[in-house]
Amino acid sequence: MIAFGGDYYPEQWPRDTWLEDVRLMAEAGVTMVTVGVFSWGLLEPAPDTFEFGWLDEVLDLLAQHEIAVDLATGTASPPAWLTYQHPEILPVDRDGRRLWAGSRQAWCPSSPVYRERAALLVRQLATRYAGHPALAMWHAGNEYGCHNAHCYCDTSAADFRRWLRATYDSIDAVNEAWSTRFWSQHLTDFEQALPPRLTPTFNNPSQVLDFKRFSSDALLSCFIAERDLLHALAPGVPVTTNFLVMLGFDKLDYWKWAREVDIVSNDHYIDAADPDAHIELAKSADLTRGLAGNKPWILMEHSTGAVNWQPRNRAKRPGEMLRNSVQHVARGADGVLFFQWRASRGGAEKFHSAMLPHGGTNSRIWRSTIELGRHVARLASVAGSTPRSQVAIMFDFESSWLLANEALPSTDVKHSRIVQDVYAGLWHGGVTVDFVPPGADLTGYALAILPCQHALSPAEVAPLQEYVESGGVALVTYFSGIVDRSDQVVLGGYPALLRSLLGLVVEEFDPLLEGAGVELDDGSTADTWSERILTEGADVVRRFSSGPLAGEPAITRNRVGSGEAWYVGTHLAGEGWRHLAAAMCTASGLHWAPVEGVERVTRYQGRDAFTFVINHHDSPRPIGAAGHDLLTGAAVDMDDVIAAGAVAVVHSAFARAQGDD
Ligand code: GLA
Repeated sequence: MIAFGGDYYPEQWPRDTWLEDVRLMAEAGVTMVTVGVFSWGLLEPAPDTFEFGWLDEVLDLLAQHEIAVDLATGTASPPAWLTYQHPEILPVDRDGRRLWAGSRQAWCPSSPVYRERAALLVRQLATRYAGHPALAMWHAGNEYGCHNAHCYCDTSAADFRRWLRATYDSIDAVNEAWSTRFWSQHLTDFEQALPPRLTPTFNNPSQVLDFKRFSSDALLSCFIAERDLLHALAPGVPVTTNFLVMLGFDKLDYWKWAREVDIVSNDHYIDAADPDAHIELAKSADLTRGLAGNKPWILMEHSTGAVNWQPRNRAKRPGEMLRNSVQHVARGADGVLFFQWRASRGGAEKFHSAMLPHGGTNSRIWRSTIELGRHVARLASVAGSTPRSQVAIMFDFESSWLLANEALPSTDVKHSRIVQDVYAGLWHGGVTVDFVPPGADLTGYALAILPCQHALSPAEVAPLQEYVESGGVALVTYFSGIVDRSDQVVLGGYPALLRSLLGLVVEEFDPLLEGAGVELDDGSTADTWSERILTEGADVVRRFSSGPLAGEPAITRNRVGSGEAWYVGTHLAGEGWRHLAAAMCTASGLHWAPVEGVERVTRYQGRDAFTFVINHHDSPRPIGAAGHDLLTGAAVDMDDVIAAGAVAVVHSAFARAQGDD
């Protein structure tokens, strides 16, 4: 079964609304709701005084209607009495300003008081609801780090120092890692180490890196504390928390987090201003699947229509919500949930869309909710299957952090931007992508891409070297492999660790000024970045043909063992990444099938193949798949057309299970 539903906040409504809610949930085919995300203040209105009556009623009602509950621990937003009694739990920003209560996530991840009070609530909830028939899953916190990822208070500073002591053998090791001979930053005792607070000019970038690692770990330990209590008190019930793999959010190292959750879930919202939002969505879904180890995951939140937090929150167009949902399922989601079930009357999110809008059931959004519920029910047999890919993109949260630092060659070089551009190139060729962490074993892939993989260690390069030597094709982009895992330049000619693999050395970076472009010798253009490349065995595929580097290499290819290592020393513009991706696919023997607006992704399981076809185009297109459409029950031939903006899920069965000998 593919779960269908959303966040449910019955506490915002009078009791008689609850009855209408469950009736309408049944009508819409809702099978799962997340309850209690922000209800700490109501569940514990005074210290150690718990009021679970309303939640008992809600869970009983949902159980009677066979709606499963993803029960939140409520710890995302501490109650007013707690921050009133203990203002020291409020987070402090980089400028030293303590943030106030009155919003949400107003807590310091290192606060012992917060942690103790959170544990108390979790213990109560777990004990009370462990055996409840509605309970299907626990939802610890909510979007950890969305607003409080980095706290600079004294408690955090002390915790950071504890983290440093646990990470480094001695203060000298910290000095070494942080290059503290520079600018007289030498430390003689761990006690002198600080979070990277507001300083007269640039912070120490290695200190910033460690602080981001620490901050991700501090929140992760909050999650783990809740998870361990839940496991102990409610054995067998999976624990999740909703990640934020979307729109370049990078505050947590989700590769580390993904190992700790029982099931990966993600929240995703599209950028209303982005005409290619569906490609960003596809990337986010593929990255989430990568985090899930290629196992199914849950789309915990997305929106039926507009959100409330972008500058201009446009409505979704007819069919857009269905296409968004089907895209997520195509790329491995076994659950389609929304924020939220019923639109709030008050509060900061009252203009956020919901499954049931303010206007009620006589509305376009409600009708599309009902339609989606029916479709999701028809996709039950898809659950558990997963896409397959022969292309791996390396994704690294730490490189993303490093490229957000100050004092770099160009402020335009952003990990998420280049990942998105490279991904979009492949998307246009109908190529499904797996995301892998740095240092992943690349065996079995035909093409591996390292987009702005700024930091690399020798151990992370070894599998790449092996992969290419044994026949793999790799593409490395500019500003990769420049620093080590302490953010110190790896000496020996950029990018030292990749120099022999790529057959070149980069002598000097020459980033482009804002709005400037440069031409390549095939007539294409590039922006953002150029650099002086000296080949050391690599063939030149493209040269710069304008600007100070005219005549110098821009794209190269090095044959190593039985494979090839390509390098691109600039940021391709227009359809440049698409053309390069096509060339790379040809080099690695992969099928390149221009999508022309129609996205096709196949999930496999045993003998079954489910091809998801999503027509993003405004005219009918060939469906390009044969079998039975699970959504309509109709037989489908390759040459049939799929209507403008429509979706289909075409099931076909192989004679033998895929992968059988
Ligand atoms: C996040 C949060 C929700 C809600 C939505 C609004 O995903 O988890 O509580 O605020 O954003 O888009």
